[in-house]
Amino acid sequence: MSDEFKGCPTVQGPVRRKDSEPWVELPGGARLASWSKDDQVRYNQQNRQAAKHAFYVSAFDFLHDNDIRGDYLEFGCHRARTFRMALTEARRQNMDFMNFYAFDSFEGLPDCDPAHVWTKTWSKGALKTGEDEFQAIIAEHGVYADKVRTVPGFYDASLTPALQGELMNADCRAALICVDCDLYESAVSVLGFLEPLLQPGALIYLDDMFAGYKGSPLRGVYKAFREFAGVSAWHFEPHMQVGWAGRSFVTCEKA
Ligand SMILES: C[S@@+](CC[C@H](N)C(=O)[O-])C[C@H]1O[C@@H](n2cnc3c(N)ncnc32)[C@H](O)[C@@H]1O
Repeated sequence: MSDEFKGCPTVQGPVRRKDSEPWVELPGGARLASWSKDDQVRYNQQNRQAAKHAFYVSAFDFLHDNDIRGDYLEFGCHRARTFRMALTEARRQNMDFMNFYAFDSFEGLPDCDPAHVWTKTWSKGALKTGEDEFQAIIAEHGVYADKVRTVPGFYDASLTPALQGELMNADCRAALICVDCDLYESAVSVLGFLEPLLQPGALIYLDDMFAGYKGSPLRGVYKAFREFAGVSAWHFEPHMQVGWAGRSFVTCEKA
């Protein structure tokens, strides 16, 4: 780890103010002399996860302040980074009524249509965290662990009308939804499944809106969301920007 990296603030992001030109601290060549690939990965991950955590802090404050009661639904759970953010911030807002649903294959990505794949790191089985491993992370985290339900399976098979009915009979209504499943096809299954579980004020957080495809709205999760918003009975009001890749939307009744 280079010395430069050690100095990076992790929560507020990397920007530090200065009292003189150029008014922000900009490390120069000497401080970046030993900056490595590992430093780059750490730097990007810290900044990305910090932006997501800041979003979860605000999102749960929004739900609390607007008295939106319901559950947390996450589609794409992997290492439970965002899932743990949700558990922690729900606890901070004392949301003892909330249930937490983790929808994932727990076998990684499905077979990907090459037309929708923009990075070599996406292939069948990539990004796998097994169900036991996921549950162990949640147990170790120790927040609302008894309220977490895992729903294993690839979405085209697992997100059935029967499951929709089961959730609705159990009074499941979405308060916050995290869609973090990378692929167009995955997001299509997820968004269609969600329609009857939405309620006014429910937040939808799309982790991958600008990830891949050079940020194009005509591809990937962004395309899936545009198509969904075009046919949904709900209106989705733009809400927060989450780092450079994600956006959230507030579910609203149509005028
Ligand atoms: C980027 S990771 C999620 C990261 C996670 N939110 C975190 O913060 O640790 C993507 C996840 O989506 C899941 N996934 C993608 N497409 C899927 C599908 N069609 N069915 C089930 N799971 C899927 C993968 O198994 C993987 O766990």
